[in-house]
Amino acid sequence: MSTSHACPVWVGYLLANPFRKLVHSPGRILGPYVSTGMWTLDVGCATGFFSLPLARLVGASGRVICVDVQPKLLEALRRRARRAGLAERLDVRLGGLHPLIADGLDGRVDFALAFAVVHEVDDSGALFSDVYALLKSGGQLLVAEPKGRVPEEEFVKTVHAAKTTGFAQVSTPCIAGTRAVLLSKG
Ligand SMILES: C[S@@+](CC[C@H](N)C(=O)[O-])C[C@H]1O[C@@H](n2cnc3c(N)ncnc32)[C@H](O)[C@@H]1O
Repeated sequence: MSTSHACPVWVGYLLANPFRKLVHSPGRILGPYVSTGMWTLDVGCATGFFSLPLARLVGASGRVICVDVQPKLLEALRRRARRAGLAERLDVRLGGLHPLIADGLDGRVDFALAFAVVHEVDDSGALFSDVYALLKSGGQLLVAEPKGRVPEEEFVKTVHAAKTTGFAQVSTPCIAGTRAVLLSKG
């Protein structure tokens, strides 16, 4: 999965500011889809605004696989996870999703999140195809894209690319400032 538009590191830090929770409550956004023991994937996790809440939702028996292309953001994520006592629930990976498949994690993931990341990826088809491979049958992917960066017609193309991979559209959740879609495998 290649990218030439990854957001600047300072934006990644900014995204973890606590005031964002007032607009993007992780509990409200993720709670309906994630439960104890699940294996989850946070694609483009940055410093873990959603990864840490995911780790709380899945509990000690669950796992959050966190993937990003920016090492500094992942260092910050590891620090935040250690401070929160959640590091053991995270599997933090630098780079794309292909190595996860090579490691035999295909078909293992219950829920994946791609929040404000698809528009930064050059080949969204490859991203969707890799997430599809990693999900279990019946697993779900929540995609949310920032309205200010992604016009409606581009989002329609994004959803089309996901459906071409095999995903089915479940719903269009209402998440402030975003265009969002919940997709499922099978
Ligand atoms: C706008 S930030 C969103 C971060 C996080 N999802 C959030 O909502 O707080 C996008 C993130 O996606 C990462 N990213 C961009 N291209 C990527 C790729 N091909 N694979 C994994 N992460 C990527 C960037 O490095 C950046 O941390």
